Amino acid sequence: MTADSSQPLQFNSVSVGDFFDQVSQAYDDSIRKAIPPYVEMFDALLGYCFFATKQPPHILELGCGTGNLSVLLKERFPNAKLTLVDLSADMLKQASVKLGGEGAQIHLVQSGFMALDFEPQQFDMVISSMALHHLLDSEKPLLYERMFQWLKPGGLFRCADETLNVPATIQSENMARWEVWARQNGAQDQDITLWTEHAEQYDHYAPLSDHFKWLERSGFISIDCYWRKLMWTVFGCAKPL
Ligand SMILES: C[S@@+](CC[C@H](N)C(=O)[O-])C[C@H]1O[C@@H](n2cnc3c(N)ncnc32)[C@H](O)[C@@H]1O
Repeated sequence: MTADSSQPLQFNSVSVGDFFDQVSQAYDDSIRKAIPPYVEMFDALLGYCFFATKQPPHILELGCGTGNLSVLLKERFPNAKLTLVDLSADMLKQASVKLGGEGAQIHLVQSGFMALDFEPQQFDMVISSMALHHLLDSEKPLLYERMFQWLKPGGLFRCADETLNVPATIQSENMARWEVWARQNGAQDQDITLWTEHAEQYDHYAPLSDHFKWLERSGFISIDCYWRKLMWTVFGCAKPL
């Protein structure tokens, strides 16, 4: 990590929550270098968030991390109630500091996604950035089914995440392009090694077509991809009215 390059971190055998606990201090700096279009991706994601309701919307963010997207949501929708979920206590702590702590409009939940149990039809939108690829492909469709229940009729799902390029030759080509781009963007050997090893151990990318199939089977409509660069993808859909 660039934060302490003299001490390479070892993560073999820790859970994904422990991994993010350990990198939480260095996360913001390293992720901005490792994902060159990080800010552009958020712009694309937020550009497709809109609410028909006149009531303050209730937004569920899955995998808020250090709160980079949460802060933008709060700025863009100042009346919204935000429920922010993450497995890592240390990432959540940083999100809490950035958002000025918990309150009537900010609710922090430390939990794994698959252990969540919300009442039906609570949320106007479920949103997530760079988090759902940590689930197994057997878990992703189950989470989509639950999200469908948690959303109000007409509610939106918006997601920015890494998806698998197909065929494998394109995925390999894009990984090579990623490394060149990240280094041009300031990533150092430690950043490349950290995120490459992280991906090998914790990431489970699925093709965008699989996400679309799972979302459709869960009942979602208007499923579309709004933006894509290399493997970073912004997509979304809606629960019918
Ligand atoms: C790469 S970070 C993304 C953080 C933030 N959304 C962003 O875009 O910078 C992924 C986050 O998802 C959380 N996460 C990963 N798997 C999870 C799971 N199964 N349940 C809850 N949180 C999870 C991690 O703890 C981490 O904070």
